[in-house]
Amino acid sequence: MALLEIENLVVEFATASGPFRAVDGISLSVNEGEVLAIVGESGSGKSVSMLAVMGLLPWTAKVTADRMAFRGRDLMKLSSPDRRKIIGKDIAMIFQEPIASLNPCFTVGFQIEEVLREHLGLDGKARRRRAIELLKAVGIPDPEERLGAFPHQMSGGQCQRVMIAIAIACNPKLLIADEPTTALDVTIQKQILDLLMRLQTEHGMGMIMITHNMGVVAETADRVVVQYRGRKMEEADVLSLFEAPKHAYTKALLSALPENAVGDRLPTMPDFATLEASQDLGTLR
Ligand SMILES: Nc1ncnc2c1ncn2[C@@H]1O[C@H](COP(=O)(O)OP(=O)(O)O)[C@@H](O)[C@H]1O
Ligand SMILES: [Mg+2]
Repeated sequence: MALLEIENLVVEFATASGPFRAVDGISLSVNEGEVLAIVGESGSGKSVSMLAVMGLLPWTAKVTADRMAFRGRDLMKLSSPDRRKIIGKDIAMIFQEPIASLNPCFTVGFQIEEVLREHLGLDGKARRRRAIELLKAVGIPDPEERLGAFPHQMSGGQCQRVMIAIAIACNPKLLIADEPTTALDVTIQKQILDLLMRLQTEHGMGMIMITHNMGVVAETADRVVVQYRGRKMEEADVLSLFEAPKHAYTKALLSALPENAVGDRLPTMPDFATLEASQDLGTLR
């Protein structure tokens, strides 16, 4: 069954120089238990499209879609209170900047418990028990003690673990992970990725993994959407994409992988004009 179905999502920002279309007609779907990767370079509208799903864009954003449904219910047609019951509970998101996404003024424990209070209505004791259980699940040592820590007392990797704990607190059906390892040291990246994939398997969650890294795609995804300048360039299961990429942009992304380096030079991405001029840059909606 489809967890999330998006048809023709468009996001336009009002800017001083007129409307700017950050997402230009994206359609995609994720099934239960499936991992969909959205890959594309920085600025291609990956975060904005998922923030649109979450309803978290600023007021300057105009969001339209033919359909944006979670388990058959159109999110665009829900009242804000009904939508809030789903967002953060059934659909959770790990944001791109782990440290910036935690509130520096509150302890880690408070921030985990806030979600539990809001969505599950647990009492104080049960909340604390669940918060400890969650910190354990994401691999934070001494969880009882760490509940009282503030974000600045933790490393970037630990903050990311806390963000993951908050995201999975209510057992979401769909987890959106927005470049969950990009801001972290290389040595920590693999640990966090492994943790996410273990939790995904254990809970049978559907997942959207946003990344600009084809290596992460290969390790995590069942299916891939390649996004470029707010549009979907290609969609395929992960094996077909790596074996036979159809579009110039996808080929370029793959050729930019370190293992495809020529001598000591990494291939660079062609610019937009070159891509536009190439025959096989089509869009798939
Ligand atoms: N609040 C905003 N106002 C205006 N433009 C924005 C805003 N947020 C994002 N954008 C623009 O939308 C485009 C897509 O951004 P984003 O989705 O963050 O890209 P990415 O694929 O790297 O996640 C970028 O050009 C970005 O500058
Ligand atoms: Mg982003």
